[in-house]
Amino acid sequence: MTQAPALEVRNLTTTFAGGRLTAVNDVSFTVLPGEVLGLVGESGSGKSVTLRSIMRLLPASGAVSGHVRWQGRDILTMSDADLRGVRGGQISMIFQEPMTALNPVLPVFTQIEENLKAHTDLDRAARAARARDLMDLVGIPDAARRLKEYPHQFSGGMRQRVMIAIALAGNPTLLLADEPTTALDVTIQDQILKLILDLRDELSMSVVLVTHDLGVVAATCDRIAVMYAGRIVETGTVRDVFAQPAHAYTRGLLGSVPHAGTERSMLLSIEGTPPPLDRIPAGCAFNPRCDFATGPCRARVPVLEDLAPGRSVACFNRTAVTAAGSPV
Ligand SMILES: Nc1ncnc2c1ncn2[C@@H]1O[C@H](COP(=O)(O)OP(=O)(O)OP(=O)(O)O)[C@@H](O)[C@H]1O
Ligand code: SF4
Ligand SMILES: [Mg+2]
Repeated sequence: MTQAPALEVRNLTTTFAGGRLTAVNDVSFTVLPGEVLGLVGESGSGKSVTLRSIMRLLPASGAVSGHVRWQGRDILTMSDADLRGVRGGQISMIFQEPMTALNPVLPVFTQIEENLKAHTDLDRAARAARARDLMDLVGIPDAARRLKEYPHQFSGGMRQRVMIAIALAGNPTLLLADEPTTALDVTIQDQILKLILDLRDELSMSVVLVTHDLGVVAATCDRIAVMYAGRIVETGTVRDVFAQPAHAYTRGLLGSVPHAGTERSMLLSIEGTPPPLDRIPAGCAFNPRCDFATGPCRARVPVLEDLAPGRSVACFNRTAVTAAGSPV
């Protein structure tokens, strides 16, 4: 029997500037209970806007359509009161920039406590105990003292842990983690990723992990969804996609990771840059950068087709791409 998804995103489309700019274009994916899905793509591909759209955390200029099914309901159409119950509680988000997501004028305890007040029945003493437990859980020593401190008193790595503690306060069943380790040094990155995986195991939490580091994906994710210019262009298990990429962009991303045991590197080496939203090329958005491009690629947008259950690709020349083999 196939497992019911924890989260089901269908035809998610997000536009800005009165519909003139499409940042997320007809995106569909599912996340199973206890699964870690890696959402990857170069800067500007729409990863953060996708997560913010799911949580209805966009500025007023953003318009979202499609469906985000969560426990039998659609987050995009639920009432604000219901949304408050889900957001920060059942579904939590770790933001890409911890300093903008943390409130600089409130001590860390107050920020954790706000979440506990909103999503648990704990009294004040129990909230204080739980806040100390959360600090221990995310590996911040001397919890009782540090809870009284303000975000600027924490180092980058510790601030990221504070964000995770706040995100976990409501015992989420789904964690949306947007580049939770970028800009941290490698040792701290590894600790935080391990922490997220431990919590996945302990709490049976599902995770959507946004990253542009394929080493992180290989080490932490079960499945991968690759985004380019607002669309998902390939999905599958990490093992299948790394072994046999079927989209030329995915193959390019994998090729930009240095070989021979190098675990991590940034995605830098595909020629050219992703298009700005007001200049997305006709046809396949990747065609000006693609070594496999042919006539149809410049005329039509390839749709995502299922190759096997849980494995899909949107590339006219997937046979040639697959035949070229994995660069890793
Ligand atoms: N409020 C906004 N108004 C207009 N355009 C926006 C807005 N927010 C994001 N965008 C645009 O949407 C596109 C996708 O942005 P997004 O932040 O999702 O990219 P990303 O994949 O998360 O990139 P990065 O890896 O740099 O974090 C970008 O072109 C960005 O400029
Ligand atoms: S559809 Fe064409 S341009 Fe797009 S990735 Fe595939 S081969 Fe390249
Ligand atoms: Mg982002």
